[in-house]
Amino acid sequence: MTKHENITYNEDIIGTIGGTPLVRLRKVIGDAKGLILAKVEHFNPGGSVKDRIGLNIIEEAEQEGRLKPGGTIVESTSGNTGLGLALVAAVKGYKCVFTLPDKMSIEKIRLLRAFGAEVIITPTAVPHESPESYTEVAKKIVRETPNSILANQYYNPRNPESHYLSTGPEIWEQTGGQITHFVCGVGTGGTISGTGKYLKEKNRRIKIIGVDPKGSALKEYYYTRKITPILKTYKVEGIGQDYVPGTLHFEHVDEVVEADDRESFLMARRLTREEGILSGGSAGTAVSGLLKIADRFTDDDVVVVLLPDSGERYLSKIFDDDWMRENGFLMPERISARYVFDSKRKKPDSMIAIDQATTVRKALELMREHDISQLPVLKDGASAGSVHDHELMTKAMEDASLIDAPVESVMSPGFPSVEVDAPIEEVIKLMKSKKNAAVLLVKEGRLSGLLTRYDVIEFMGK
Ligand SMILES: Cc1ncc(COP(=O)(O)O)c(C=O)c1O
Repeated sequence: MTKHENITYNEDIIGTIGGTPLVRLRKVIGDAKGLILAKVEHFNPGGSVKDRIGLNIIEEAEQEGRLKPGGTIVESTSGNTGLGLALVAAVKGYKCVFTLPDKMSIEKIRLLRAFGAEVIITPTAVPHESPESYTEVAKKIVRETPNSILANQYYNPRNPESHYLSTGPEIWEQTGGQITHFVCGVGTGGTISGTGKYLKEKNRRIKIIGVDPKGSALKEYYYTRKITPILKTYKVEGIGQDYVPGTLHFEHVDEVVEADDRESFLMARRLTREEGILSGGSAGTAVSGLLKIADRFTDDDVVVVLLPDSGERYLSKIFDDDWMRENGFLMPERISARYVFDSKRKKPDSMIAIDQATTVRKALELMREHDISQLPVLKDGASAGSVHDHELMTKAMEDASLIDAPVESVMSPGFPSVEVDAPIEEVIKLMKSKKNAAVLLVKEGRLSGLLTRYDVIEFMGK
């Protein structure tokens, strides 16, 4: 802060980084005891905890003479570090090039571009050491760009140091040294390692708890020191790893708990709707992790959970009901046949069906066109039979004249039907019979759609 004739102001936006508030959580924590406080990092000017490291990393490169005027800052980032760097670079006049995995939300990409950064999208589903991964692509850009530095948040000691110098002392002072637990998601590990180190130096009894998204390898590594290859990619952004970054110092961590995408996203929505704190997915992971250990808290405990960024960055995902439903995160207690039908990825505008007079040739063409293996045969709007591609083809191969015959002569029995609001278990029960590859849905007495075994299996796999 600079004072100029009683005007209090910051010299530039960089001066507003840090000093984020603690806000008491009340509704989302159930009956957990103690004072539970959220460190709300979206109050930073770039909207996330990562502004803290953006500043520290750039200033270190300047001090060491590695970054000269007109230079370029390159980084592989899930978005937020990029914003922190881009904001500081904008003030200081540097260029930025960022590589982002393709699962990142469009809001983050647009934000980075808004700050003038160049954004390169790389595939998510590749191991971090693959030449296509966002970290390797970033390294290549640095090799090929003169006067450029790699911010290197996964290995740069300035990352955890930023939290040792700012986040840790802030929390210690804001809680008057009474903090008993610090709960935090783990991405690069910078936040938990730097904050944890500072708090433990102040009082080694403070418990530091890491939260890892389900599907990441970090929790298992913490307990076994082994890295198991990741089988499923998770959707929460910014946390979890398939390796141990150089900035993650588990010696400052007492425990690691896990939370899955669904819990995380539903909690981010609850934080927003019940506490009024517009929260990102990893904030939901951190609070879900906190709840897993909440039965241990006593009335005297002061628990701080760090919320890394804002939900505004995920409006097209976590806060979009369609996206949540399509990904199986908004699941009603009782799942109806209609619900499964509505969440089908490929939904025709109207039910694809034929009548008995349709030729075998036409039926095969229709199935090929719509990429389906069976069709219901209807008579006066009611089920009269069914045809299956493999069966039609086998029969047409045996007797070529069948190809122009009506399906009536070769069709199989019709599919069974259920009411659209019937529980999905009823559909599954019918499908257990080999002959029922599909089930028709009836709405107000009329056939309205078809669910295949594939549709049900796809839904269950979400
Ligand atoms: C949204 C979000 N949450 C949490 C984190 C994790 O913080 P850290 O990298 O300090 O472990 C990140 C890091 O990129 C992030 O972007």
